[in-house]
Amino acid sequence: MVRLLLDTDPGIDDALALFLALASPDIQLEAVTTVSGNVHVDFTTRNALALLELAGRPGIPVARGCDRPLVRQPVIADYVHGQNGLGGVMLPEPQQRPVSVHAVDVILQKILEAPGEITLAAIGPLTNLALAVRREPRIAQLVREVLVMGGALRVPGNVTPVSEFNIFADPHAAHIVLHAGWPIRLVSLDATNHADMRREQFNALATRSHPVTQCMKAMVDYHLDDFGKARGITAFHMHDPLCLAAAISPDLIDWKPAYVDVELNGTLTLGATVAYFEKMEDIDPDLAHPRRSNVLASVGVDVERFVAMYMERIHNAFSLAR
Ligand code: BDR
Ligand code: CA
Repeated sequence: MVRLLLDTDPGIDDALALFLALASPDIQLEAVTTVSGNVHVDFTTRNALALLELAGRPGIPVARGCDRPLVRQPVIADYVHGQNGLGGVMLPEPQQRPVSVHAVDVILQKILEAPGEITLAAIGPLTNLALAVRREPRIAQLVREVLVMGGALRVPGNVTPVSEFNIFADPHAAHIVLHAGWPIRLVSLDATNHADMRREQFNALATRSHPVTQCMKAMVDYHLDDFGKARGITAFHMHDPLCLAAAISPDLIDWKPAYVDVELNGTLTLGATVAYFEKMEDIDPDLAHPRRSNVLASVGVDVERFVAMYMERIHNAFSLAR
């Protein structure tokens, strides 16, 4: 059983990742923490609550997190995810409220209470994680594993030619997280760009008219029609769901140790992730290159197996007409 803490900015693909977590009998979702990213944290928090209620899981605590990046001016991605973050899909006003403690406190509390047991999956900008590990560096040794969706190592970025959105949105937080000394699996665009699901596959899931699969279909339709059409995008990139899937079956992805750092000073390259994949002992020490890897980086993915797993789990959990 994976005891999971999900830090997220829903977000269409965040919602699809959350549904995968809820559909997985081998995941115990301890709490959801929210952050500003795709849209402001007011929306991401409301969305997290509404999505949990739609899936019939209102009891999972949601903690509201940081409302802006550590240093840079906020950037959002409402042009990708719609103004409300869910592709304009209007879910009923949630009945539950967020818990009264901040997301950073929930992250600390959960990890400190259960040493070695909590997997922390971060699928938005890394602001909450950075503050948590700065406040209590011991969590780096006490967390089981940190999964991060972020970065573009050997491929172009998706928000600038060199930067991926989650890292670009809070590069200083990403810098802190990458250097905190905890075990990170970095699920970057190198893998997630290949993890596509087609419209027909979402349509097939939605045929049993469960509210969750209807919501999934509506969000993906919005994305492909309003964002994708003009850009020649015909399938949905499952960035965040692939990261979540790595918590369940890490063998869906090919991993390589790498040293990854973030550009903080570039005028054109802010938020670029720079990766060294070389065997560290082969590197000329005079070049002052890093000596130790700080992540396991995703370098390939078994797309067919991932999509089959995603569809099967969602179908089993959310296919009965209500
Ligand atoms: C990441 O950026 C966000 O827009 C998505 O939700 C995902 O977490 C992909 O670059
Ligand atoms: Ca996200």
